Amino acid sequence: MLRSVAILLALLIGGVVCDPVTKFVDCGSKAGKIDSLDVTPCPKIPCELPRGSNAQIKITFTPSENSTSVKAVVHGIVAKIPVPFPLPDTNACDSMAPACPLKAGTQAVYTSTLQVKSSYPAVGVVVKWELADAKEVDFVCLEVPARLV
Ligand SMILES: *[C@@H]1O[C@H](CO)[C@@H](O)[C@H](O)[C@H]1NC(C)=O
Repeated sequence: MLRSVAILLALLIGGVVCDPVTKFVDCGSKAGKIDSLDVTPCPKIPCELPRGSNAQIKITFTPSENSTSVKAVVHGIVAKIPVPFPLPDTNACDSMAPACPLKAGTQAVYTSTLQVKSSYPAVGVVVKWELADAKEVDFVCLEVPARLV
């Protein structure tokens, strides 16, 4: 009895603390393969992102080329129109583990924070996140539907 309560508690707490792996659309990753995406908070799709707070994004991918430089480019697509989203740091190598250079075939994890300002309108938005090499070829191109709330 005590044991099943403990398991139930663990499941409940686990469900609150760690969001499941986030579903996404690959929008043309050419120089790599996306292994998984985690957006927090995002208990379900579309991700509901509270305005005036930060969302965390974690992209696990395997590059198919070596690269010393990785650039992050983010767009918010509202009503099919992509709007550039300013990142405080576009050098994705500052947020990469293991550290750059990327090695072909070696999995890498990129983590970043998305500042959802309270001044943003409460709209549905597709977040398009790209990680590109020096020639603007994408290691990662993903789109995840979100809703600013
Ligand atoms: C990446 O670098 C390694 C070690 O320098 C090399 O063996 C490999 O062929 C390179 N891979 C590609 C895809 O350029």
